[in-house]
Amino acid sequence: MRILLTGGAGYIATHTIVELCNAGHDVTVVDNFCNSQPAALKRVARIIGREVPYYEADVADSAAMERIFSENTFDAVIHFAGLKAVGESVHQPLRYYRNNLDATLTLCETMAKHGCKRLVFSSSATVYGVPDEVPLREDMFCKGCTNPYGWTKYMIEKILMGIAEADPDWSVVLLRYFNPIGAHESGLIGENPNGIPNNLMPYITQVAAGHLEKLSVFGNDYETPDGTGVRDYIHVMDLAAGHVAACDYAGCHSGCEIFNLGTGIGYSVMDIINTFERVNHIPIPYVIAPRRDGDVAACYADPTKAKEVLGWQAKRSLEDMCRDAWHWQSLNPDGYSDKQ
Ligand code: NAD
Ligand code: UD1
Repeated sequence: MRILLTGGAGYIATHTIVELCNAGHDVTVVDNFCNSQPAALKRVARIIGREVPYYEADVADSAAMERIFSENTFDAVIHFAGLKAVGESVHQPLRYYRNNLDATLTLCETMAKHGCKRLVFSSSATVYGVPDEVPLREDMFCKGCTNPYGWTKYMIEKILMGIAEADPDWSVVLLRYFNPIGAHESGLIGENPNGIPNNLMPYITQVAAGHLEKLSVFGNDYETPDGTGVRDYIHVMDLAAGHVAACDYAGCHSGCEIFNLGTGIGYSVMDIINTFERVNHIPIPYVIAPRRDGDVAACYADPTKAKEVLGWQAKRSLEDMCRDAWHWQSLNPDGYSDKQ
């Protein structure tokens, strides 16, 4: 298939390009580089052995999107483009609603106009809100989100469900990611957050690199086996493979389907620290700090539906995730801003 990746220079998309190309698909990227750099696509080119064609444009710019769809014929689109920092979304809600919703609306209008009606969307486990029970299944009622970022995902899911319901030519796959971490095994591509990371694994790798002094563990009094928060961490290359399966599925079904992409295993913050230290032989100094606002005790997937319907299952271990995350960080202390 010829596949357009919006937000294609970002963390998850760059890894997905590798898996799509391995599976024989052709990709084109559109990205405005608001949270990424063209250098990431150069690194992908080194892995796949050919250049990645890309457009620098905002997905909400209908003239630019019209030009991209006029110059190419796409069989499907994977829509990664979006702003994703939870805390930032609380302080800049309008920017988040404007960017994430406008990009989606313009994308879908342009796709419909050009008869391209297969769409895979990057949703998030955040749409489940504060769960009553775990593991989380796709058919569980989403009671509401805890921040504007989450609401944009929730609203976009509803918009895409409505589009697929109104026109049976559409095939929409909503992928609810759990906690992607790790990097491609080459160490050429990986997560490259701006400033001090908010998420656990990039914070740990920066402590390991000596850029940050110590980790704050947000709460050790949760109702979990060791009192620290439990999450479903998934290797980004497993997540990438899930997109290949989703594109195949979208190619031969219509309507709208939701899939959790997680491992089904919950690990605590202490599990992550201990595994990282053991695998990489680097101590991670930490202190116990108060709980972080908005955090839940435990969040992990029931990944049964993705296994049964998509034939996809995560394969990589927590050891792989910790090793590959550190491999990327240690080879790229300044992210993509070097001469590699
Ligand atoms: P990322 O920031 O690395 O990638 C997003 C890309 O979209 C960036 O390259 C950015 O420049 C681009 N972008 C943003 N708005 C755009 C616009 N209007 N026009 C064109 N390009 C635009 O993030 P990621 O971690 O790779 O996440 C990809 C998607 O998956 C996002 O939609 C995110 O919300 C979702 N998601 C991520 C996680 C996670 O933990 N990383 C979890 C759940 C869902
Ligand atoms: C967060 C977002 C979620 C998003 C996901 C992936 C919130 C409330 N949720 O999920 O919407 O999809 O990132 O980008 O922000 N932790 C520490 N110390 C740290 C950082 C984290 O103890 O310095 C703990 C957290 O309390 C949590 C776990 O580590 O228990 C994972 O945190 P994080 O990586 O930020 O992911 P989530 O909060 O699960």
